[in-house]
Amino acid sequence: MNPDRIVLIGFMGAGKTTVGRILAARLGWDLVDTDELVEAGTGAPVARIFQDLGERAFRDREAETLTSLRTRTRLVVATGGGAPAQPRNRDFFSGPAAVFHLRVSLQTVRERTRENTGRPLLALSESALRSLYESRLPVYDAMGTSVETDGRKPEEVAEDILRLLSVQESQSEHDA
Ligand code: S3P
Repeated sequence: MNPDRIVLIGFMGAGKTTVGRILAARLGWDLVDTDELVEAGTGAPVARIFQDLGERAFRDREAETLTSLRTRTRLVVATGGGAPAQPRNRDFFSGPAAVFHLRVSLQTVRERTRENTGRPLLALSESALRSLYESRLPVYDAMGTSVETDGRKPEEVAEDILRLLSVQESQSEHDA
């Protein structure tokens, strides 16, 4: 497979947008961050959308955003952490793209997002956040190739992804 789209998934704080930006620059592709598109389309930050319109309204907009990207190529997509867990988005994640799960431990999530107030779900209790994390990990793992991010720089994570892609590319040339 020589994908013309890369999709990054993973829990909040995994570094999807940062790694996505590096990948897009290296490949000369565009980067889109689905949270940013939802915010631009709604005219409000994610936290406000959750607060004023509710999570369901946010998920509707997120799903519409993913659908709007389905025909775009030469694109790196940094998705919100909850998008892969929504059954209605499954077609997007199983479509023609290379999907990578940026793995992050819950402890690192806490460290990386300590100053962050823009993610409403980080206000969950420790046990609710842990259950959310544990319920999502198998979903992410089933959907994408896992790449570890704990204790690693975004550049190193992006390098891993580029290396994995070139291996996949030469493997499919070999199989052809
Ligand atoms: C969410 C993750 C956030 C954002 C929203 C909900 C989630 O995106 O979409 O706050 O359900 O995990 P990031 O993963 O980019 O933080």
